[in-house]
Formats: sequence, structure tokens, C-alpha cells
Amino acid sequence: MTLRAASVLWSLIIIVGAVIGLYATFVAIVAIPALQNQVVYLNKVTLTWFQDVSVPEQWGFLRNQVTPFTLETVDGESLHAWHILPLGFYQRHEDALTREPAGIAHDITDRLCFQLLRDDPDSLLVLYFHGAAGTLGSGWRPPSYRAMSAASPEKIHTIAIDYRGFGSSSGSPSEDGLLVDATTLADFALNTIGIAASRIVIFGQSLGTAVGISLTHRLATMPEPTLFNGMVLVAPFADVELLTATYRVVGTIPILDPVARFPKLLTLLNSFIISKWASKDKLAAFVRHVEHLGQKRQTYHITIIHAEDDYDVPWAHSEKVFGHAVNATSATGTSFADTERYKSQFGQLLGAGGRIVEWKAERGLIREEITKYGLHDRIMSYPVVSMAVARAFQSIVQDVS
Ligand SMILES: *[C@@H]1O[C@H](CO)[C@@H](O)[C@H](O)[C@H]1NC(C)=O
Repeated sequence: MTLRAASVLWSLIIIVGAVIGLYATFVAIVAIPALQNQVVYLNKVTLTWFQDVSVPEQWGFLRNQVTPFTLETVDGESLHAWHILPLGFYQRHEDALTREPAGIAHDITDRLCFQLLRDDPDSLLVLYFHGAAGTLGSGWRPPSYRAMSAASPEKIHTIAIDYRGFGSSSGSPSEDGLLVDATTLADFALNTIGIAASRIVIFGQSLGTAVGISLTHRLATMPEPTLFNGMVLVAPFADVELLTATYRVVGTIPILDPVARFPKLLTLLNSFIISKWASKDKLAAFVRHVEHLGQKRQTYHITIIHAEDDYDVPWAHSEKVFGHAVNATSATGTSFADTERYKSQFGQLLGAGGRIVEWKAERGLIREEITKYGLHDRIMSYPVVSMAVARAFQSIVQDVS
């Protein structure tokens, strides 16, 4: 065999190998819905093995600073939840709190944390939606609960849930199911605690941003709209379609990058993926809807935060989400090129601190913060998030109508 023939043969083997590899990935993902869900939700990757989410002290919380409880959904699932008290507030009630029995609350309404939150007219509440994989206690989530209230430790309570199929919650995840779960949490806050939507901020990270956006959109578009005071989205993705093209397993392996090089193949692949999570479109639809509600007050406050060194979900996703939201603020729209021009003219450059741009519309504000550092998860525990939550609450709006 000549050298030339050998190299042609090798090329052929590589091509055939690559095609088979591609095909295997493709088939594995599309053919097995459970595996598909694993790619999107990773809910079986617990990350808190040998730890018990009904004992929050394991993550360094004080006795009864976090109260585990369950929420029942309308479709019969039971969701594990945490009510996390801010430290200043905890300190004020420390004696009474430490005297209470600890552990999972069978009836949360009997517990002091619930009663104190319900009866305090100054209290504020973050509804927290975590990302894919793990549980309420995984990774950077526990420190991020502390970050929620860091800028206002007297007032800001947090309630977080494990979605269906995650941790000790029942069921298995789906796009519709997670929206039911989020709605269950919102209903608990609004109707069982009885806290006004104007004292609630939605926080989401990664997958949680899609859940938070879906919830916000759903409640705003009801015949009797409910509008939360604000929304903080950390490391959002534009939609699953773009996510599959750019997602990196464990932050390093761009698993579908070979497929993504063939746009038609990627479109085909995406057509098999059940979960769409069209965040950019839903957020735009929410903004468009609220702009048309014609209420004479600011009614949305959206902060998008993304780190440049996020290797799981590239920050280009946030640029897309921001662009779509901005475009939805006016009837005529704003092209992405105009948005880019606006950014370079009015954006604030903070050097190693990243950059910020704010878009003020008739009825609301959309803010984008791109930090240089923070990775995908760690950033949730950073001051930039504490500040964003505080700012979202401070936007509590004088009703001028
Ligand atoms: C931008 O907004 C305009 C007007 O609402 C709309 O027609 C257009 O489809 C939007 N563009 C994108 C990319 O969503």
C-alpha cells in the first residue's frame, strides 16, 4: 500500500468512526426519553449522597434557621422545600426558634418561621428555583441562600423547592411538571402565607431561570394578573435548542458540538427533545404583555447576571435573552444591532468587575450584568447577586395610578 493510499484509508476510518460516534450520541439522546431528561434535568445526579435534606444543619445552618417542609401539588406530587430565615431576623427570634423542635415540619403553618413571616408586614420573600442536578443542599446552593438576604438580613426570607424527581420530592421532571411545582410554591406564598406579590422576588439559576420565567409569564398572563416585584436570573439559557448546541458536560466536554456543526442535524435533534424551555421567547412575551397591560406603574424589574468564565452555559445566552427582552419593550422592537450600540454608549464598564447595562422601558427595567468571574454556580453566592436581589426589592414601586 502506498503512503497516499494509507492516508486516504485512515481518513476514511476517521470519518466513518466520527459518523458512528455522532449517530450513537444522537440515537442515545433522542431514543431514550429518560436519558433525554437526564441531559436536561440531571435529577438523578444527587450530589448530596449520604446527606439528608431534612437536616439542614448538615450544611452549616443554625438550629431552625432552615425549616424543611413539603408542598403538595395539584397533580399529587409532594415537593421537598426549605424555608430559610435571614440572620438578622433569626437573631431577633433566636430564643424562641432554638426552643422549637427541629426537623421536617409536618404542618409548616404551626411553625414559628411561618408565623413570623406571615405576621411581619416588613418581611420580603425570595422564591428560589435551583438549577439542574442535585438537591436543595448541593454545591453552591447553601451559600447562595445566605447571599439572597445578605444585603438586608433583617427582612429577606427565602423559600426553595426541590422540583419533582429531585432529592426527596416525588415524581419525575418534565417541563409542564416543573411549572406546576413553581406554581405550587407561588400559590403557597401568595395564598397560604398571604404575602403580596409586590414583596416577592423570583430568583432562578440556570434551569431555575427557565422555571422562574415560565412562572412569571404564566401568572402575569392570567385573567387576574399577578406581578412579582422583580426577577433575578443567574446564568440563564436562551432555550434548550441553543443549550444543546453549546452545553458542556462538567463544564468541559461540548457533548453536542460535533452535531452543532451541522445545523440541519441539530434542528432534527432538537425536534426530538421534549423540553423546550423557550426562555428568551417567554421572557419577551412577558415583557410585551406587561407593557400592554397599561398599568400606570413600573411592573417588572429583571436582572440578568452571567459570568464570562461560565463554561457550562456560555454567557452569549444572556446576551440573547437580554436582546429579546429589550426588543419586546416597544411595539416596533429594537434590533440587536441597536441594542449593541446602546450598550456601548450607555453601558457601565467596571474593569475586572465586568460590565452593566440598564434598559429602562415604559413599565419596567431590564438590567444585564456580565461579570468576568463567577463560573456557573459559584456566582450565586457572590455579592453581585445579593445586590441584585436587594435592588429588585427596592424597586417596590409607588403606585401612581
Ligand atoms: C422584535 O420585536 C418586533 C416587534 O414586536 C417583532 O416583530 C420581532 O419579531 C422581534 N424580533 C425578535 C428577534 O424577536
